Amino acid sequence: MTGKSGTGKTATDKTGRSSLTIVLAAGEGTRMRSSVPKVLHPVAGQSLLAHVLGAAPKGTGASLAVVIGPGHDAVTAEVKRLRPDAATFTQHERLGTAHAVLSARDAIVGGADDLVGVFGDTPRISSAKFERLRAPLKKGAALAVLGFRAADPTGYGRLLVEGGRLVAIREQADASPQERAIGLCNAGVMAFDGRQALAIIDKIGHANSKGEYYLTDAVSIVRDLGLEAVVIETSEDEVRGINTKAQLAEAEQVMQARLRKAALDAGVTMIAPETVYLAADTSFGNDVTIEPFVVIGPGVSIADGAVIHSFSHIVQASIGKHASVGPYARLRPGTSLGEGVRIGNFVETKAATLEAGAKVNHLSYIGDAHVGEGANIGAGTITCNYDGFSKHKTEIGKGAFVGTNSSLVAPVKIGNGAYIGSGSVITKNVPDDAMAVERSQQTTREGGAARYREMKTRGKTPKSG
Ligand code: UD1
Ligand code: MG
Repeated sequence: MTGKSGTGKTATDKTGRSSLTIVLAAGEGTRMRSSVPKVLHPVAGQSLLAHVLGAAPKGTGASLAVVIGPGHDAVTAEVKRLRPDAATFTQHERLGTAHAVLSARDAIVGGADDLVGVFGDTPRISSAKFERLRAPLKKGAALAVLGFRAADPTGYGRLLVEGGRLVAIREQADASPQERAIGLCNAGVMAFDGRQALAIIDKIGHANSKGEYYLTDAVSIVRDLGLEAVVIETSEDEVRGINTKAQLAEAEQVMQARLRKAALDAGVTMIAPETVYLAADTSFGNDVTIEPFVVIGPGVSIADGAVIHSFSHIVQASIGKHASVGPYARLRPGTSLGEGVRIGNFVETKAATLEAGAKVNHLSYIGDAHVGEGANIGAGTITCNYDGFSKHKTEIGKGAFVGTNSSLVAPVKIGNGAYIGSGSVITKNVPDDAMAVERSQQTTREGGAARYREMKTRGKTPKSG
């Protein structure tokens, strides 16, 4: 379907119209009391910005612009990581939300059927809500505003509705006592008819108590032009913005409840779901079990029949079918476990691929490593991957057996079917099917223990030999 505005852009999303979404992310987030820009703080393992960009219109005909504060290069990097097609604009001075939108003027003049403005700090917004908001534009409205009934409206812009029509938004600081009594508030998400958006926003002035260019003034301008502005209502929960760490924690709680329910609905077995932390992008196969007190960070996939035992911490890892992890395992980024792999207690892995059936059952560090099919890594094995300057790789062959308490000093290769004696410090490659033992000879003195005890009980110091 083609957009009807004649902008020349083709749209294929559910609305049938092309769109430009402008995400305002230029705020300092002073109230977060953090050196990290507000929109980069995480909820369910993803930045606030990632949640908003995930919900924003996407696909053919949906373009995206993000307005960023000066010097916030990390925000630019996050945008590029998530949506390489997005344009970024710097708002050099914070002169208000309309000024922020106009920082993306170059994108706006490109033209789209719908121009959508959203704040970067409302992580619970859903893509369905964007679609609902854009629907009235198709029917001829010039502007649609997302509104909600606030439990406590203090601080929000109030939506002034007359005869069923939205006539203005009054910011808290400029509102009369009667207007302050209004419970219907501006969520901060707006959709303009793209053909008229720039002309409307360009008319916005700064004659208000803060001297800022308020995007919300677009409503009265639309009315003065004889055009139609409408309100689409949603729940307060969905549009709650994050301004403080307390609000961040609250959003996390709500998001976790949602993710746990979705996992249970998808068939994941959780004995105590309220103790399990998931990420927004965690993916599960069939018949996965997660025991209590497991923390799963971003980028984790868990295949059919895998079991994650209690107290495990997993980030950016793929867990193969019927694998068993923990209790007390730590899987760090770049871990890939094949089918039936067993990772036991107090085992840490990083940038490590373990092929099907490999076992690391106790107390080990396997980093920058490749472990072949069916290899058995004994308790206390350490891949010594770092020499103080750079990281090196350890390769352990198929069916190899590494005895307990061995140090594998990388770069090093252990061949297929090779055997490493316990307590070895391996610094040289071991060929296939070889046995390597690196430790000093054992000395045994017959009766030595008995003589030692006798001397100690007589208060004498033992003689050597
Ligand atoms: C804004 C709305 C208000 C609404 C409320 C919802 C305006 C004028 N007011 O008020 O009606 O009820 O949000 O939470 O729009 N920003 C920039 N550059 C600027 C100013 C703001 O990027 O120059 C960004 C901020 O980082 C933030 C967003 O825009 O993400 C909103 O700005 P904020 O100052 O928080 O506006 P509010 O006073 O909360
Ligand atoms: Mg705000």
